[in-house]
Amino acid sequence: MGVEIKVEGLTKSFGRQVIWADVGLTLPEGEISVLLGPSGTGKSVFLKTLVGLLKPDRGHIWIEGRDLPRLSEHDLYETRKLFGVLFQDGALFGSMNVYDNIAFPLREHTNASEAEIKRIVGEKMEMVGLLGSEKKLPGEISGGMRKRAGLARALVLDPRIILFDEPDSGLDPVRTAYLNQLIVDLNTETGATFLIVTHDVNTARTLPDNIGLLFRRELVMFGPREMLLSSTEPAVRQFLSARRHGPIGMSEEKDVSELEAEAEAQGADNGHLLPIPPQLMPSGGAPRPTMHPPGAWLREHGLAPPPGSFIDERGRNWAEEWYRHNYAAGGVRSGTGPRTESSDPRSSETRPYGSYGQQPPQDDPYRGEFPWFRDPPRGGEQ
Ligand SMILES: Nc1ncnc2c1ncn2[C@@H]1O[C@H](COP(=O)(O)OP(=O)(O)OP(=O)(O)O)[C@@H](O)[C@H]1O
Ligand SMILES: [Mg+2]
Repeated sequence: MGVEIKVEGLTKSFGRQVIWADVGLTLPEGEISVLLGPSGTGKSVFLKTLVGLLKPDRGHIWIEGRDLPRLSEHDLYETRKLFGVLFQDGALFGSMNVYDNIAFPLREHTNASEAEIKRIVGEKMEMVGLLGSEKKLPGEISGGMRKRAGLARALVLDPRIILFDEPDSGLDPVRTAYLNQLIVDLNTETGATFLIVTHDVNTARTLPDNIGLLFRRELVMFGPREMLLSSTEPAVRQFLSARRHGPIGMSEEKDVSELEAEAEAQGADNGHLLPIPPQLMPSGGAPRPTMHPPGAWLREHGLAPPPGSFIDERGRNWAEEWYRHNYAAGGVRSGTGPRTESSDPRSSETRPYGSYGQQPPQDDPYRGEFPWFRDPPRGGEQ
């Protein structure tokens, strides 16, 4: 199972350079969150602060009732075992072959026998598609393979919190698709809490449960995927639709005159929100225990999804199907599509519409149907 991480008022500077200030967010237990932000905004610094490699100037990081920046060296060492981390540069030991690199945390932190280590390393290497490269040195394999070796090493201790710093950089699009599927499947299997830094907009739009954006030395927004994908906040919108138009420029920030010129050129209407894509499902087909039903956040907040949302490339509307399979016909579920057999005991308390397989509340005005997705009213855009 995963663990919740609660960050409060976190501030980090190097000398007089403030990297980010007053960052607050909760990574919900077992959920996948993505952290975005222009290059140099301190995403890697944030991950390093979360694992206690860097000390914040102020603020708290609560994990299982303990405040990480205030732990003793010994307690910090213990708490770090909860984490599996893939650093941006892979951070493999150049003089050790791939097998020994992946085995390293097991030898360092456990008393596992060599036979046991062989089994675990083999399993993780297979998972990331590296079998056969055991004897190679990091300098003898491709950048993408080094990434995957780092990934395997981050997983050997069965961590409850997984932090990946750009696991997809340097991977080709097909490998990125495989990697994202692997992340979703890993999350289903382990229930660990994930935080992933990425620059890949498609990954950010389809993979996570939650998205955060660091910009101008602050966390501009952090929340459910649907909240950010339907947000009209200029930086969020620009980042999640990968557009040139918006407050983020080549050298991080545009100045006022640049922005004014842009606004004039484009008129007041700066384009539509893109449709919200369906979230990536586990290979097994059933939703992850912590997955939010498509459209749930929007519905809860009385917002209409941008037209075309939740429709996959085969034309299937996942929001409609989800509700049909889970709620229609008195909660009877059969056939294919989004549904689940498992019932997570927490879900009925914590998920307003997410108690999979259960009936919606009696006073739910949309009971049994979901008219927005056929005839979306205006309102998703302010
Ligand atoms: N150990 C350090 N000492 C001093 N400054 C640092 C240190 N580590 C990072 N910085 C500075 O902090 C800022 C944020 O760096 P960071 O690597 O977190 O950016 P990032 O958002 O991960 O960027 P990218 O997307 O390019 O990886 C940069 O200005 C960097 O120079
Ligand atoms: Mg970085």
